[in-house]
Amino acid sequence: MTRTAHAEKSVETRIVPITLAEAAARDYDIAIGDGLLDQAGQLIAERLGARRCVIVTDTNVGPLYRQRCEAALARAGHKVLAGINVAAGEGSKNFPTLQVTLDQILKAGADRNTLLVALGGGVVGDLAGFAASIALRGMDVVQIPTTLVAQVDSSVGGKTGINAAHGKNVVGTFYQPRLVIADVGLLDTLPKREMLAGYAEVVKYGLIKDAPFFRWCEQNGMSLIKGARAAQIYAVSECCLHKARVVAADEREKGERALLNLGHTFGHALEAMLGYDDRLLHGEAVAIGTGMAFRLSAQLGLCPATDAYEVRDHLAAVGLPVKPAFVGAKDIDQLMQLMAQDKKAEAGKLTLILARRIGDAFVSRDTDAGAVREVWREFLAA
Ligand code: NAD
Ligand code: GLY
Repeated sequence: MTRTAHAEKSVETRIVPITLAEAAARDYDIAIGDGLLDQAGQLIAERLGARRCVIVTDTNVGPLYRQRCEAALARAGHKVLAGINVAAGEGSKNFPTLQVTLDQILKAGADRNTLLVALGGGVVGDLAGFAASIALRGMDVVQIPTTLVAQVDSSVGGKTGINAAHGKNVVGTFYQPRLVIADVGLLDTLPKREMLAGYAEVVKYGLIKDAPFFRWCEQNGMSLIKGARAAQIYAVSECCLHKARVVAADEREKGERALLNLGHTFGHALEAMLGYDDRLLHGEAVAIGTGMAFRLSAQLGLCPATDAYEVRDHLAAVGLPVKPAFVGAKDIDQLMQLMAQDKKAEAGKLTLILARRIGDAFVSRDTDAGAVREVWREFLAA
C-alpha cells in the first residue's frame, strides 16, 4: 500500500510502544487517534490503575479541554485533586512558574502515587514533566499533548525542562512519561500558525532518516495542516515511530538522538536573540534552521544543492518562514555566540546536524565556523 493510500484509510487508534533499552519497567505506550481525550481515563486505568490526579494545563487549553479531561478521568474511577492553569506561552517555562506549579501540586495533597496529567502543548509538557521529575522525588506523569509539536515530538522521549538566562531548556531532566495520549481531534482548535510550526517538526523526521516520508509530506502536508484526520493520525504515528526508535537506542542523547535537533541550533540562536517572544515560534525557528542546515550542507559540498532547494521550497509552500525576520547582518556575531552556547556545543566546537541528502542527516561535531557565518550572511541578506 502506498503511503498516500495508507493515509486516506487509517483513521483507527494506533498504539506505538516505546521500549527503553536500559529499563523495560519504564516502557510506555503512545496512543494516537481521534477523540482519545474522552477515553483518557480508561487508557490510563488500563495501564496504571485508578489514581489520584493533578492536571497541569495552560490558560488557553484549560478552558477548552480541562473539563472534558476531568470528566474522562472521573468516569474511569480516577480522582482529580486539582487543576493548575499556568499562563499560556514560552514565558511559563521559567523558575517562578515551576515553583508555583510545585507549590500547587503539594498543596493539593499529592503523594508519590499521585499522577500528574500534562494537558497542553510543549510548554505545559516540558514544565509539568520537569515538575513531576522533582516533586516528591518523582511522580508519574501522563502526557496529553494538544499541539502538533507536542504530539510528534515534545511529549515523547522524556526531555523535560525550563529556560534560564543562559539559554533554552538548559535546566531539566530526562524523565519518561508513563503514557502519551495524542488526540488529533484537539488540533482543531489550534491556531493555524501553531499548526504550521508543528508541521516543521513533522517534516524533520523525513529529512533526518526517511526520504519517502518527506515525499509523503510534499503530497499530503497541506491536507494534514487543514485538518484531514487520517493524514494527521498517519503523520503523528510515523513521527512517533521514528522518535520511539531513536529514544529506545539513545535515551540520554549520547549519539543518534542528537539528529532530532536538525535545524535547532540555528533555530535556538534565533529564539534566544528574540527573547523567546511570539515574533518567532519554536517550530518557525526550526523551519528556518532546517533550511539553513541544508543550505550549509550544500555549501560544504556534503549534499546536493537541489535537495536544499527542495527543503526550502516545501517549507515555504505550506506557509512556513524560511528566512529570519527581526534580525539583520549586524546580529551575526551574537547569533554565532548563541550557537556556541548551545547545549550541544562541546569544548567550543560547533555541533550541528547536517545532511548528505534528504533522508540522511548526520551529526557534525567540528563544523567550520566560517561556513556557518557565511550561511547567516546569505539568509540575513535583504
Ligand atoms: P505551546 O505549548 O506554547 O503551545 C502553543 C500555543 O498553543 C499556546 O498558546 C497554547 O496555549 C496553545 N494551544 C495548545 N494546544 C492548543 C489547542 N489544542 N487549541 C488551542 N490552543 C492550543 O508550544 P508548542 O509549540 O506546543 O511547544 C513548544 C515548546 O516545546 C518549546 O518550549 C520547545 O522547547 C518545547 N519542545 C520540547 C521538546 C522535548 O523533547 N521536550 C521537543 C520539541 C519542543
Ligand atoms: N526534540 C528533540 C529530542 O527529543 O531529542
